[in-house]
Amino acid sequence: MFNWIRSSRPKAPPGPADIIQTIEARFPMPPGEISRLSARRWILNYVPPGGSGIEIGVFRGHFSSLICDVVRPRKLYLVDPWTKLGETFGWGKAYTNFDTLTTEAAKAEATARIAQFPDIHSVIIEDTFPACSAQITEPLDFAYLDASHKYKPTLNELVHLKDMMAPGGVILGDDWAPDPQNQHHGVFLAVQEFTRNSDWQIVAAGPGAQWALSRRSVPPS
Ligand SMILES: C[S@@+](CC[C@H](N)C(=O)[O-])C[C@H]1O[C@@H](n2cnc3c(N)ncnc32)[C@H](O)[C@@H]1O
Repeated sequence: MFNWIRSSRPKAPPGPADIIQTIEARFPMPPGEISRLSARRWILNYVPPGGSGIEIGVFRGHFSSLICDVVRPRKLYLVDPWTKLGETFGWGKAYTNFDTLTTEAAKAEATARIAQFPDIHSVIIEDTFPACSAQITEPLDFAYLDASHKYKPTLNELVHLKDMMAPGGVILGDDWAPDPQNQHHGVFLAVQEFTRNSDWQIVAAGPGAQWALSRRSVPPS
């Protein structure tokens, strides 16, 4: 009798941990990227805890989890075009399991990773930045930029972001590559150009290819 009751009970839907495990088993993340996460963590020490922020370029949500874990933001916007790019990301490389990782699986994994932090108000926006910027109306305490990686689009992203930041807000990002031969050198160039032509300055850059910017303090008049 007891066994019959147990076997007829409907199965619980998979929880976030099950979803992550299933996707990881099918599309393992390259070990180098996983170990690079700990090398990137230090930059989050520049983010004021408990505020409202955005991650632009989420992919599978590995760094989103780190943001949630370290910063414990009140609210986190997560922006990525995911399935709007098509069935796969189209980059090749081990990072996308040689283009077999579907954009749908990446979105599902990111969504499950964020669901592991129920106290954080997460807002998932499946779109490109800055096209979606009108959907974010509150001033942001931090923005982590890890999206286009090309010089002109990155500069455009920075120019849009600066007007969305709260006083004291911090803009951070990945792929600080001073070497002109590096595929992500455009990010380095865009940050240099942005800080030359705005009231933003570099406050940290280097290890783990991370960088952080804040507004220059205005001298008292
Ligand atoms: C390097 S991955 C992001 C990795 C993630 N930040 C992490 O560290 O785990 C780059 C992501 O940026 C997204 N992307 C590309 N252009 C974008 C844009 N204009 N706005 C938002 N996301 C973009 C891509 O779809 C991709 O998922």
